[in-house]
Amino acid sequence: MNTLIIYYSEGGSTKIMARTLSMHLKADIIEIKDLKNRKGFANRLLSSVDAFRESKTKISPSKLDLSNYDLIYIGTPTWANKPAPAIITLVDNCNWQGKDVILFTTMSKEGSDEITLERLEEKVYLRGGRVVESFSLITKDKSPEDIINDTEGLIQTLVLKMYGGA
Ligand SMILES: Cc1cc2nc3c(=O)[nH]c(=O)nc-3n(C[C@H](O)[C@H](O)[C@H](O)COP(=O)(O)O)c2cc1C
Repeated sequence: MNTLIIYYSEGGSTKIMARTLSMHLKADIIEIKDLKNRKGFANRLLSSVDAFRESKTKISPSKLDLSNYDLIYIGTPTWANKPAPAIITLVDNCNWQGKDVILFTTMSKEGSDEITLERLEEKVYLRGGRVVESFSLITKDKSPEDIINDTEGLIQTLVLKMYGGA
């Protein structure tokens, strides 16, 4: 079974998670870039507004051919209790027909993941995919090593290898 990990990360935490998953699950990995400037305090506020409204953004790559993959992980930071605009845009641009999908999100506060995961699941479902698992990680005050260890813990606890990959 071919596994792909797609992620967006502004600050690097989701990227560490995605890379750890890719290494342990022997999955291909693709980073989605948001072409809008998200740096600085004002842009952070605007980013929360964009996420809350589920506004689309310009991304690179703008869409992906998923035909070679059976299982696809989608990773996003939680912004304003929602997925980041880059991931909302990507999910809307791809064909998820017949795909098994695993969602993951990083966040700073307990409970912020609920709507993020719910909204992504709805969107994937409406485009023909099936979410088989989802999980989240609180990253506040965590070092990169902590995030790697926590992700390795999730791989074990959720028995992620059961779904495919390595
Ligand atoms: C614009 C913005 C909005 C955020 N909103 C939330 C939020 O609503 N709830 C939360 O728990 N964390 C929130 N965070 C924190 C991020 O979800 C958290 O730091 C995440 O791990 C960042 O991932 P990244 O380093 O991959 O970008 C927000 C961060 C940013 C930049």
